[in-house]
Amino acid sequence: MKRWHRPRGTADILPPESRRWQKIEALIRSVARRYGYEEIRTPTFEYTELFHRGVGDTTDIVQKETYTFEDRGGRSLTLRPEGTAAVMRAYLENGLQARPQPVKLYYIMSIFRYEKPEAGRLRQHHQFGVELLGSPHPLWDAEVIALGYRAVRESGLRRLELRLNSIGCPVCRPRYREALLEYYRPLKEKLCRDCQVRLERNPLRLLDCKEDRQYAEEAPRSVDYLCDDCRRHHEAVKGALWDLGIPFREDFTLVRGLDYYTRTVFEFVHEELGEKAALFGGGRYDGLAEALGGPPVPGIGFGLGLERWLAALEAEGVRGDEEEGPDLFVAAPGTEGEHLLPLLEGLRDRGFWVETDYGGRSLKSLMKLADRKRARWVAMVGAEELERGRFLLRNLATGEQTEHPLEDFESIVTAALGGGVRR
Ligand code: HAM
Repeated sequence: MKRWHRPRGTADILPPESRRWQKIEALIRSVARRYGYEEIRTPTFEYTELFHRGVGDTTDIVQKETYTFEDRGGRSLTLRPEGTAAVMRAYLENGLQARPQPVKLYYIMSIFRYEKPEAGRLRQHHQFGVELLGSPHPLWDAEVIALGYRAVRESGLRRLELRLNSIGCPVCRPRYREALLEYYRPLKEKLCRDCQVRLERNPLRLLDCKEDRQYAEEAPRSVDYLCDDCRRHHEAVKGALWDLGIPFREDFTLVRGLDYYTRTVFEFVHEELGEKAALFGGGRYDGLAEALGGPPVPGIGFGLGLERWLAALEAEGVRGDEEEGPDLFVAAPGTEGEHLLPLLEGLRDRGFWVETDYGGRSLKSLMKLADRKRARWVAMVGAEELERGRFLLRNLATGEQTEHPLEDFESIVTAALGGGVRR
């Protein structure tokens, strides 16, 4: 016997689980709209260089986690390991600078990272992302955080914590980098192997290491090295969060795993997901456009993993996949059902969810099917009813059943189901 497996670290999303996805996606679109964000869709793969330049050569994501392949034309392509670099590429390539700034975009996209499959880590996951491009103003940082916070709060999540930090800009970061090097160099032998390599190449990343946590706690703090502009920016973001009543904790070891960040960085963590798996994270990336060879375009955004969001909801007891069923199930025992199609289409024109089964099953098995599908009403238009030019309508909640002339089928059913266009 042949057995098929999905690739490691991927998942099938089946009903009724897919209902939870749809619900959350509807919430995303509703929240994004309220803040004036429009959807962007970019290709699933990009030229590999985009991520090397955008996300950074020394990051784990680029060094260890990309799915990279050569196409038949010999070009190196990479399945997107994140969304921000691709969105910035699209902004630059399509001349979105010409539109009123800032440009506010959101996406729901699949993301590919070759990670060790463990709790909360998939090789294909899905992100709701938001990118605001074209303004350096700190109040946008606060508004972007508020958008993400609203989305997760409206979904029902409560046990969240926002962590905030500022990692400065090219003006003040070199000084901070030096301070870090000075602190970490004497500790080199005690650091994990990855961190020994990171030390010279990208010392900020040392703060991120889960193994060498005890050293990070004592390390110099980026907020103590900020230039005046960065400090003002950071104070403005914090002040706005206070005004909005969004609680946060300053986390001086928060640096995030992508190289494009400047100034504001933040993560929302959830009790149940643990320290290693943030619910969502983001920050400002004022140097990204230039790193990609474009003009300066400041930006701020976040990425929120839908799988983690749904897992956190489940942990808080919010399932959101309550079964719904069709408005009407039409049963036609003793016939193939050829007379049903026009009846069903008429009701679907009016917006009802209507189902049936063709092929002459018995009344008993049709009623069982209607029940399993959780239909609200059943209409019986079987061989017997056809002969008499009548049909029966049964309310499954009350058991009440009435009989009517078949020629009035559509108007009577519509009235019983509660008027036209439901959705
Ligand atoms: P990130 O922190 O790498 O940021 O990913 C964002 C979110 O995606 C994480 O907080 C998590 O919810 C989810 N996620 C990441 N990796 C996995 C995985 N292997 N399995 C399941 N979920 C995962 C970014 O990607 C940035 N592009 C976010 C951003 C947008 N920054 C500015 N704009």
